[in-house]
Amino acid sequence: LDGYEKARGEARYTGDVKLPGMLESALLRSPHARARVARIDLDAATAAPGVIAVVGPGEIAGIDEEVHFEGGAVAGVAAETLALARAALELIEVEWEELEPLLDADEAVARASLLAESRRYERGDYEQGLARADAVVEAEYTTQTLNHNPLETHQCICEWRGDNLDVYISTQYIWGVRRDLAEQLGIPQDKVRVICEFMGGGFGAKNGLGNYLALAAELAKRTGRRVRCALSRREENVVGGNRNATRQRVTAAGQSDGTLTALGGEYVCALGWEGWLPPTAGPAWLLYACENVRTVEHGAKLNLPPMAAFRAPGFVEGTWSLECLLDKLAAQLGVDPLELRKRNYAETDPIDGRPFSSKGLMECYRRAEPHWQRRHEVRARSDETWKRGMGLASQIWYGGGGPPSYAWVRLGSDGRANIVTAMQDIGTGTRTAMAIVAAEELGLPLDAVEVQIGDSARGPFASISGGSSTLPSMGPAVRSAAADAARQVLELAAQRFDRPEETLSLREGSIHCSDGSSWPLADITGLLADGQILGKGARGPNPTGLRVLTFGIQLAEVAVDVGTGEVRVEKVVAIHDVGRVINPLGARSQIEGGIIQALGHTFSEHRLDDPRTGTVLTKTLDAYKLPTIADVPEIVCDLVDVPDEHLTNLGSKGLGEPPIVPTAAAIANAIRDATGADVTSLPITREEILRALREAEQRERERERIAAGAA
Ligand code: MOS
Repeated sequence: LDGYEKARGEARYTGDVKLPGMLESALLRSPHARARVARIDLDAATAAPGVIAVVGPGEIAGIDEEVHFEGGAVAGVAAETLALARAALELIEVEWEELEPLLDADEAVARASLLAESRRYERGDYEQGLARADAVVEAEYTTQTLNHNPLETHQCICEWRGDNLDVYISTQYIWGVRRDLAEQLGIPQDKVRVICEFMGGGFGAKNGLGNYLALAAELAKRTGRRVRCALSRREENVVGGNRNATRQRVTAAGQSDGTLTALGGEYVCALGWEGWLPPTAGPAWLLYACENVRTVEHGAKLNLPPMAAFRAPGFVEGTWSLECLLDKLAAQLGVDPLELRKRNYAETDPIDGRPFSSKGLMECYRRAEPHWQRRHEVRARSDETWKRGMGLASQIWYGGGGPPSYAWVRLGSDGRANIVTAMQDIGTGTRTAMAIVAAEELGLPLDAVEVQIGDSARGPFASISGGSSTLPSMGPAVRSAAADAARQVLELAAQRFDRPEETLSLREGSIHCSDGSSWPLADITGLLADGQILGKGARGPNPTGLRVLTFGIQLAEVAVDVGTGEVRVEKVVAIHDVGRVINPLGARSQIEGGIIQALGHTFSEHRLDDPRTGTVLTKTLDAYKLPTIADVPEIVCDLVDVPDEHLTNLGSKGLGEPPIVPTAAAIANAIRDATGADVTSLPITREEILRALREAEQRERERERIAAGAA
């Protein structure tokens, strides 16, 4: 619905909002990973041209004398223009007392510098599982620190109207900002209005508050002016949040028929100074029906910028190690990789035996077969230089959504419907999906439905756009609101046309009776004049006692230049089960976006930190390499599209995160299929390919020597 608006540049993002008299603000950030402000002089900045207000350490939340990572803020300025604000920052004199930063995750774990208690999990008898195995494989996998790089950086504008605060902000959670900012400021939530009409991406980095928001709110209060604070790209790529790096020492054991007997892992997550411990072991717990599992996850607290949720946090990293290791095990056992995954299919939740609300993973595997059968043909197209192969990897993730979420529907005398809910659109096409749901329920064409979102003062509570939960949380609320309005229409029609209400239904802009008669909807809505039919709906709870997950498999086809280590991904096939698909075009777009973002962490994206100082070296987009359209392979999307009958009234799960989960492992497995090389670290650079190729050659020579000796 809003595609043209976005394409024409008409959609108003937070970055487009310009309010009269608006000041620009900026934060003075520490160049050191760990330091204390010994002395700070704000006078010159305060007296600088165009400067209206200055705050120093301790004056607002998140601006302190002691900084624990590069980019930690110690002062802030509001000025007539951004250039004047930044010039004033230059005038602030700081005497830093530099302190020794803690930068190594293993050292942090050893010294018990942890952000959370280490998470230990065990089921079955792990040692016995190892003992019963015909093959045991072990490996260490690493993943890099990644930046989210939303096109729109973190930003907001604050405007006080008396003791009411209006906040324009690029956020994934309008109601979370409203709640948490009100608490931070000590004012009632209803005094805070949060507006986000369009959003230039978040990927998990825009779930909460930030000190840029605290600064804008405070400076707006002090100056009586509207104040904007927008992070630059450089700031975004230091303090905007990141996917934490990991080191994963993992073990898999299996019997000759492919049955997994043990999965184990020790996961070290380099989280930075703040954040939380993501579920890196989640795939090992949940993906397969392995009886014996033992994992431990550590969250190292370091003098590095805080991590933030990033599109399937934990599962992206944990699936990389698990699915690469399983192919290594399959090779040792001489079992086909797809067969191995089917052999260990979990019919119920492997953690507690709960049934799944629905699980179409076997159907995904079935649909993968014809693609997988092409692998011999693909390999046969190898030549001296370019080796070709195929790999696959499974995916699980959450994405069931849940309450609370509310929606209102307004139907006017012109027969058009308005959906109202104070939801944000992270960029996944929320307006279109909600309109499709409402249009179907009301029997209206899509262009007779408007969707109003993006303003906490103009609609009821709506959930977060995170955890792949927008559609599964909001969709049911919209559907039930539309059903409420539809019921009222039919009630009127029953009286007007003298038919029992239960014989009437809405379809294609008309009211239909089971006796064959029908009337245009306008025959009823036309009676309303200035009246309105108002429907309201709420999201019901998910079923208790059932596990709700999303599932899928991806297959990658690659060509590897064994001389240079260059990899070309020729094709990715993505087969996912997320219950009912509402908007096939939007769903396809999510799959393509997830795979392209995964190509970034598979090959090129890497936040590099100076290992001595802990400062970020890759602050700009020429140093931090995002994939571009030139990197995009052929992408084949296939969605199972069977409604989950237990998921309230819609049967849909989310699709924002699932497609990014298995791509890197599928590609690594294809590289192994093509060349025998076991890549173990992300990103897969040419150096990493060449290292793995040398290692594979050595292994081969060793095998030959042993074989020759035995002969
Ligand atoms: Mo997300 S990473 O749940 O926004």
